[in-house]
This record gives sequence, C-alpha cells and structure tokens, in this order.
Amino acid sequence: MADLTTNFAGIKSPNPFWLASAPPTNMGSMVERAFDAGWGGAVWKTLGEPIVNVSSRLAGLDQGALRMIGLNNIELITDRSLEVNLKEIYECKKKYPNNAVIISLMVESKREAWHEIVKRSQDTGADGFELNFGCPHGMSERGMGSAMGQVPEYTCMVTEWVKEVSNLPVIVKLTPNVAHIVPPGRAAMQGGADAVSLINTINSVMGVDLDTMIPYPNVNGMAAHGGYCGTAVKPIALNMVSELARDAEFNIPISGIGGINTWRDAVEFLLLGAGNVQVCTAVMHYGYRIVEDMIDGLNNYLDEKGFASVNEIIGKSVSRVTDWGNLDLNYEVVARVNNEHCIKCNLCYIACEDGAHQCFSFDENKYPVVDEHECVGCNLCALVCPSPGAISMVRLDDGSNPVSWKEYSEDPSKTLRSHGSSLPGSKA
Ligand SMILES: Cc1cc2nc3c(=O)[nH]c(=O)nc-3n(C[C@H](O)[C@H](O)[C@H](O)COP(=O)(O)O)c2cc1C
Repeated sequence: MADLTTNFAGIKSPNPFWLASAPPTNMGSMVERAFDAGWGGAVWKTLGEPIVNVSSRLAGLDQGALRMIGLNNIELITDRSLEVNLKEIYECKKKYPNNAVIISLMVESKREAWHEIVKRSQDTGADGFELNFGCPHGMSERGMGSAMGQVPEYTCMVTEWVKEVSNLPVIVKLTPNVAHIVPPGRAAMQGGADAVSLINTINSVMGVDLDTMIPYPNVNGMAAHGGYCGTAVKPIALNMVSELARDAEFNIPISGIGGINTWRDAVEFLLLGAGNVQVCTAVMHYGYRIVEDMIDGLNNYLDEKGFASVNEIIGKSVSRVTDWGNLDLNYEVVARVNNEHCIKCNLCYIACEDGAHQCFSFDENKYPVVDEHECVGCNLCALVCPSPGAISMVRLDDGSNPVSWKEYSEDPSKTLRSHGSSLPGSKA
C-alpha cells in the first residue's frame, strides 16, 4: 500500500483528502464524524462577523435525471459564535491530534480586526489558518471575501497583517471571479502566504421558476447572485490550479478545490500541481462516506502505477499544459468507426453534420463511415457516441515534423500539413 500521508505547507495529514470550509465542517460533532469516516483534514466553516444568514440559500442545477451537477449558494459564514466554534475546535483537535484542522477566517478589512481574530484562534491547537478571500456574495458587498481576492494589493496587504501575528501556516483561499488567477496568487505569496487554496465559488444566477418568475433561491420573492460549485466547476478549477502551478514565479503549495467527487477527480488535481484537495458539494450530496472510496481508489492507482507515495504524483502533468501557440500543428488524428461496437444510433453523423465538418456518410449496411480527408480530428463524434469503443481517434502523422504556431510565425517556410484543406474558405 502506498503512503498517503502529506505535509502540506507544514500541516501533516494522514491523507490528501480535506473537507472544504462549508456546511460539512460547521461544528465539532460533524468534523469528528468526518474524521471517523476517514477524512484527513477539515477546514472549519469560516469564522468571523457578522453572524447573519438567509433562508432559503441553495439552488441546484440538474441535467436530466442527474441531480445537482452544479450547486449555487448564498450562505454567508458561520452562524455560530466565535467562542463556541473555538471551543469545539480545541476539543476536536485534542481528540484527533493526527488529523489536520484548519481555521477559516473572514473579518472586515482592518488590521486590528484580523490581528484580534488570529490571536484569539491560534491557541486552539489548530494546524493552520485559511483566509477566505473568495466568498462572492453578501460579504463581498461589504468589502470582504472576494472583494479582497479580486484586488491583488488587498490580498497581499491582508495576508501580511495575518502573518504579522500568526504562528501557524497561512493558506490564502482565492476567488475564481477574476480574469486571471496568477496576479492574486502571486500577491498572496508576496504577502507571505504559506500556501493558497482554490477555487472558492463562481458568481452565478441558477435559474428562474417559470411559474412564479422568481429566480432561485427564492428569499421572500427575491433572489441574489450566489456562488457556484460542484461537478460542473471542476474544469474551471483545474485550469486555475494548473495556471498557478506552471507560473514560473509562483512557488508555494496549492490546495485544489472544485467539483471533486471521486479519487479520479482528486488525482487530476494532484497531477496538475495540487498538494492536496478539498471537497464540499460531493459530501453535501453523498455524505462523509465517499472518502472511503477516495482512499481505496488512490491507493490502488498509486500501486498500479508503481508509486510509493502520493507525493510522487504531485505536479506530474504540469509540464503537459502549455500555451496554444506551442501545440504541434502537424499532429493529426482522425475518427474511425469500429462496426463491432457501433449501435447505429447516428448521433455521430448528426453531430458532425450540424456541429462539425460533415465527414460522415453511411455504408451499404448503414454503418457510419468517416471521410478521413475531411475529418479535422475535433473529437466531437467520439464525445457524443454512447457506445464505448465504437469511435476511436487514430493518429495519422508519424511525428517526424512537429511545428508549433509560434515556430511557424517565426519561420513561415516550415511545412504545415494540408489536411482538412478542402474545407470551403480554407487557405490551401
Ligand atoms: C453552502 C456552501 C457554503 C460554503 N461556505 C463557505 C465558507 O464559509 N467559507 C469558504 O471558504 N468557502 C465556502 N464554500 C465554498 C467551498 O468551500 C468550496 O470552495 C466550493 O464549494 C467548491 O468546492 P466543491 O465544488 O467541492 O463544492 C461554501 C460552499 C457551499 C456550497
């Protein structure tokens, strides 16, 4: 069995699976049940002021029979007092000394306010702080949450305030509601952060009740934009994690958050540079128990791939992400149909006809056939195909002449493949 223990910015944990700051970490009894289930760490539901909340506060995005593939919330920070939370953190940490307990904080943007809450919280035995610079609703209108994370100067300044008095590692939780994640990430680092975590939730309006015409979630006939999370946000989170991981100046650990449901999702974050992961929506949907499968799955994966420790896979795929201009324009794949697995649903034909490059026709037995000269290798037919193995993408070039857009721009005499050049309007 591989070693799953991690040391994230000086915070030790029996495995890389932490609960994100949210309802599943609302109180001591919940965090303790989570540790019993196998979670390595927990970021406590954000402490701070003011203590107010609305009802209702969640809305879900369904896709057919699949419920809650996205979740939107307008919940604010904890609605329990600081004293009660700190007492429970102290007791929890005493009972579970080997699990990581992180205190998430958010107060108004005054140096004294941050100093005070940090000083009051750090003698609880907790292992670190997470600064919530990401909450996009309610708090941000009052200059907190994402209002901090959206302005690199503020991110740096408040991180410095916290570092002035903290004797614990400080993780800065970043908001995805920015055009580019690198400036706030670097600002956190510049302010002295020991690590960052991302993503918090994404600005969103979840939908509208067509009968009442009131958007969700309904608070006495009105709605407000909220924070979006869950399965649907994973690609956005992966992009932001990898953007930071491959930034040459950025060199502090990253805790990956956003749409993680399974060990596979978690491994993707680790491969793209996260030192551990945090989970919220999947636990709100399926309960603490999902961590058992995450631990088993990660263990099996590491064993199969021959890794002795989870730390060996962190960042392994980072160098595989690059700018578009560095991609090989001469790499060439086309779609091929495998009749043995084809169920003749024709979805590939329709998708290619109306959404791609009209490369499909049918043979005498009504199986779809690809015109490989016309196929641009976009993957669409393989993506819509419901029958595993019926369409595969096959490489045609021999790899002997890689040319990127950047290289071609500098030297237009380089040879580019002519494939797909019969498309109307194409250059060749
Ligand atoms: C109902 C709800 C409440 C949340 N409250 C907090 C919070 O208090 N502090 C915080 O930093 N993030 C909070 N979050 C954001 C999560 O910690 C996490 O960053 C986000 O949900 C993305 O992860 P996920 O896709 O696994 O849910 C909350 C999320 C939800 C759904």
